[in-house]
Amino acid sequence: MKRPIVTLRGSLISLLILGCLAALAPLAAAWEREPGSVFAERRAKLEAALNAPIVLFGYTGHEEANPSYVFMQEENFYYLTGHNEEGAAMLLVPESAVQKGWTGPREILYLPPRDLAEEKWNGPRLGPDDPGIKEKTGFADVESFVKLHETLANLSRDFPEIYTELPGPHDEGYPHAANWSNWVKGAAPHATLKDVSSAVGTLRAIKTPGELALIQKAIDPSIDAQLAAMKMMRSGLYEYQVAAKMVEIHAAAGCETESYAPIVGSGINSTVLHYNKLDRQIDGGEIVLLDVAGQYSGYASDITRTIPADGKFSPRQREIYEIVLGAQNAALAALKPGMTLGGQGDTSLQKIAMEYIDSHGKDKEGRSLGRYYIHGLSHHVGLDVHDASGLPHPLEAGMVITIEPGIYIPEENLGVRIEDDVLITPTGYKLLTARLPRSPDEIEKIMAEGKAEREKHPQ
Ligand code: GLY
Ligand code: MN
Ligand code: MN
Repeated sequence: MKRPIVTLRGSLISLLILGCLAALAPLAAAWEREPGSVFAERRAKLEAALNAPIVLFGYTGHEEANPSYVFMQEENFYYLTGHNEEGAAMLLVPESAVQKGWTGPREILYLPPRDLAEEKWNGPRLGPDDPGIKEKTGFADVESFVKLHETLANLSRDFPEIYTELPGPHDEGYPHAANWSNWVKGAAPHATLKDVSSAVGTLRAIKTPGELALIQKAIDPSIDAQLAAMKMMRSGLYEYQVAAKMVEIHAAAGCETESYAPIVGSGINSTVLHYNKLDRQIDGGEIVLLDVAGQYSGYASDITRTIPADGKFSPRQREIYEIVLGAQNAALAALKPGMTLGGQGDTSLQKIAMEYIDSHGKDKEGRSLGRYYIHGLSHHVGLDVHDASGLPHPLEAGMVITIEPGIYIPEENLGVRIEDDVLITPTGYKLLTARLPRSPDEIEKIMAEGKAEREKHPQ
């Protein structure tokens, strides 16, 4: 099939842009993969927890028809394999299979055969017959994908239960789990399929040192971008111009993409939680909510600051801002292992933030403000911005979560969210986004510096 020449031209332009960015940026590796031993350790932990065959599938690369789509691996699959290419699968065989006569390897990565014609367009891929493929992938065995069907059929004779990803009640978008669990049913029709997702989520909730380093590499340029947005902010800019500057800073520091669609909401748009149109011109006196953060080597960050368009909070904007900040500080003060993100009990961080908001300030009708705090306080952050964490359970050291209270009053065109990322430590927490000021005075100071710089060097 002939493909349009624009593909070639687009690639050349991308290369030129990347070349320019690379020249400007501090050197960052294109994609940092943790050592193979880290992925092997995760597989061993999962297998020890479930003691049954586990089969998981990566994305195929056909999940989206959008021409701007760039392949990004299915997160559970990446977490367990570190394999970031299309069309792969992984089979883990329990130790107990050896007593039942299993003589083969207990960890197998299945790869599609190489397609040299396709590689002319998309670049080289790993194949099952490549020399040194076991060392490269860290798997005891690497086979051609076509062999998986028969191996699963054989295995299911001795193991009536097989773990894979089953579709969840709230699955949205591409039906990956539905497609592949049906495929497994076809290969092993007598097996009972069980869902592996919460067991993987429980592992994913506790970050390894390598993961923490990658999350920090997503956070650092995202902080730089927030600072740059504060410095450039002024009425007359379009929301998309601010977002473009922030995205440029992420990309130049090695972020492969955004953690989520950038949210730059001015005026009434500051009250829309996941506003992503970005087509409005920012007006004087407004508040601007910036929930924008980059993704580095698969790992997300998630940061929000809310700033005044002209560099000075109005008294009402400052009042609401300080209530949100007070709620964030109240939640942070209570943050330690054993606390819970939600619920109604005394350990609930959500309850602490809600009680703070509901007992400070009033709306124009004299009502308390809890009614304007309309989302959860926190979620885990990792390979996904709303990361998997298994069944709800109290916080433990090694978890990374957001703390993000907000108040959204559409009648006043006033939405304020402050969102930071924290690591839970054995005794409390570490604020991973500490370099980015939260107080209104510090924000105004940075904005004043930005204004002075602009006046000195008008563009
Ligand atoms: N940026 C999405 C969120 O804060 O959850
Ligand atoms: Mn968030
Ligand atoms: Mn956010």
